Amino acid sequence: MGFVYLNGTFGPLEEARVSVMDRGFLFGDGIYEVVPAYGRRLFRLEEHLSRLDRSLAQVRIANPHTSAEWQTMIEKVVAAAEFEDQSVLLQVTRGVSLVRNHAFPNPVSAPSVFIMAEPLNPPDAVLKAEGVTAVSAADNRWLRCDIKAISLLANCLLRQKAIDEGCAETVMFRDGILTEGAASNIFVVKNGILLAPQKNHLMLTGITYDVVLEVAAQLGFPVSVRDISDSEVRGADELWLSSSTKEVLPIVQLDGRPIGNGCPGPIYERMDKGYQQFKTEVMRCGR
Ligand code: PDD
Repeated sequence: MGFVYLNGTFGPLEEARVSVMDRGFLFGDGIYEVVPAYGRRLFRLEEHLSRLDRSLAQVRIANPHTSAEWQTMIEKVVAAAEFEDQSVLLQVTRGVSLVRNHAFPNPVSAPSVFIMAEPLNPPDAVLKAEGVTAVSAADNRWLRCDIKAISLLANCLLRQKAIDEGCAETVMFRDGILTEGAASNIFVVKNGILLAPQKNHLMLTGITYDVVLEVAAQLGFPVSVRDISDSEVRGADELWLSSSTKEVLPIVQLDGRPIGNGCPGPIYERMDKGYQQFKTEVMRCGR
């Protein structure tokens, strides 16, 4: 039975309840984070908590907890879970108001806070050796994709499009320029250069995206952060996705056509080794 935190109380998942008047339920009015924990050690917690703080500020929800408070609560949930590797969900909504009104409650409601841990199954050697397939779609989301909002209907529809076509992810383009995946960031390798989309309001800056760029710098890969066109993605030597739950994975087929020679490439293999090493080192230092 899962052990969760909800609004001041720790307890079994089955007993956790929120009001139907919670603005998260009525309007998707809230923010979330997904933090990976390996062997119960939280990976890049500080970075996840600062992104949470930034997202909350952008939607004008006061962060109900200090970083130290968040850490204590999260660690309690992580310690109680039955599994070692975890995907920890943090969610904050604008809280409950007994009147349904798009405008914010006045006076302001207390935010609803939820923390839950689920088993994390990072990609295994077979998946990394085979890679995954993807479809493409026009990015039809709003223009504040840099905010990690719980209103994810567009992302759910986009991810389902991939699943319906027997694929793992949907790679999105806006006006012919790569944005990101339905729940991941996307990288291109061409002629030995790692291309990454620029951080802006059209994509979520993944915590893993930053780790990939740090590892690339450590490995001495040439990197170019810039707009990447649809044809550059389709003509890539290698295509990768990254996220806290999937780490870095090679995409070997897009819309039924092979990327490069249709197999994970040599740069991916070096990146994955570097990423795993980075993770181990970070975990050893306790961060
Ligand atoms: N999603 N872009 C989108 C739209 C995402 O939903 C995610 C992650 C990322 C990668 O971010 P990060 O590296 O910080 O995980 C990029 C999480 C895993 C989710 O929604 O479950």
